[in-house]
Amino acid sequence: MTIAIDVHLPADQAAAMEVDVREGLAATPKELSPKYFYDERGSRLFEDITELEEYYPTRRERQILEERSAEIVAAAGNPATLIELGSGSASKTRHLLDAMRDAGSLLTYVPVDISEEITRETASALVEEYPGLDVHGLVCDFEAHLERTPTTSEAGPRLIAFLGGTIGNLYPDERAAFLCRIASLLDVGDHLLLGTDLVKDTGRLELAYDDPAGVTAEFNKNVLSVLNRELGGDFDPDAFAHVARWDAVHEWIDIGLRSLSAQDVHLADLDLTVHFDAGELMRTEISTKFTRPRLEESYAGTGLAMAHWFIDPAEDYALSLARLA
Ligand code: SAH
Ligand code: AVI
Repeated sequence: MTIAIDVHLPADQAAAMEVDVREGLAATPKELSPKYFYDERGSRLFEDITELEEYYPTRRERQILEERSAEIVAAAGNPATLIELGSGSASKTRHLLDAMRDAGSLLTYVPVDISEEITRETASALVEEYPGLDVHGLVCDFEAHLERTPTTSEAGPRLIAFLGGTIGNLYPDERAAFLCRIASLLDVGDHLLLGTDLVKDTGRLELAYDDPAGVTAEFNKNVLSVLNRELGGDFDPDAFAHVARWDAVHEWIDIGLRSLSAQDVHLADLDLTVHFDAGELMRTEISTKFTRPRLEESYAGTGLAMAHWFIDPAEDYALSLARLA
C-alpha cells in the first residue's frame, strides 16, 4: 500500500486565477468559473448539498453504482486502475472500488481534484479502507493539466470515472474539447465512465439548485469568500442573492449571484475596482442536463463512442460507459 499526492504548480494556479477572474469580471455579463467554489469550505458545502432531499443527482448515481458496479467493471474489462476526475470525497466511488476488488483486478486509484484538502483526506481514508491499494492523487485543474495523470495501461486496463454530473458544469465547446483530451489519454481496452444528470420537470430541477434551507446559496456565495481571501477582495456576500433558473433553450440550470444594490467591489491583488449595477446578475455556474441523444451527440467527433448506458429506475440520472470509437 502506498500513498502519493502530487500538487501541481500552485504558483501557476494562482496566476491563472488572477487572469481568469480579471477576464470574467470585465465580461458582459460578468462570470466566474465554478472551479473556484471548491476551497475547503466549498467542498464541505458541496457534501452538505449532496445530503439535501431536493438534490437528487447524488442519490440516483449512488443507486446505479450500488446496483450495477459489478456489471460496469466487467464491461470495462476488469480495470486495474481507476482514475477519477473531480473525485471530491469519492463517497460513491467505493462501489466501483469494491467491484474491482471483488473481480481481483484493483491495484491503483488516482483521484484528480483541484481541492487539495479533500484529495488528501480521501486518499488517506481509501488506503485504510482498501489494504494493498496504491493511491496516487493529483491536485490540479483537470482542464489545464489532464495529461499529467500519472498512469499507464501496462498494469492492465484503466477506467477513467467522471462522476456527479460535473461534465455538465462545462460549456458545450469545453465539454467537446475535454472529451477529445480524455480520448487521447485512452488506449484500446480503457474506458470512460461518465455521470450525467437528465432533463426533467423544471420545478424539481430548480428546487435541486435553490433549496429552501439555503445550503446551495451558501455554496454559491462561497466563491466570493474565495476571491476575498485569494485576491484581497472586499465582496460582501450578503449584498448578493443566489439565483438558479432553468434555461430551456440550452437545457442547463443557470446559476448566478444578483447584486442587491449598486456597489463597487475592490480586489487589491488585481488592483481592480468593479462596479455592479443594482439587480446585475453575475453567472457562477451552468449545470447542463442531458438526454440520451444529446449525450450521443456530445461523444460524436471526440474519438469516443458510447458502449453502455446505465440509468436509474426513475430515469433521473445516467452513467454511460464509453471507449475509443
Ligand atoms: N465526484 C464527486 C464530487 C463532485 S463536486 C461527486 O460526484 O460527488 C465537483 C468536484 O470537482 C469537486 O471536488 C471539485 O473540487 C472538483 N473540480 C471542479 N472543477 C475542477 C477542475 N477544473 N479541476 C479539478 N477538479 C475540479
Ligand atoms: C459538481 N456539480 C456537478 C454540481 C451540479 O449539480 O452541477 C455542483 C452544484 N452546484 C449547485 N449545486 C450543486
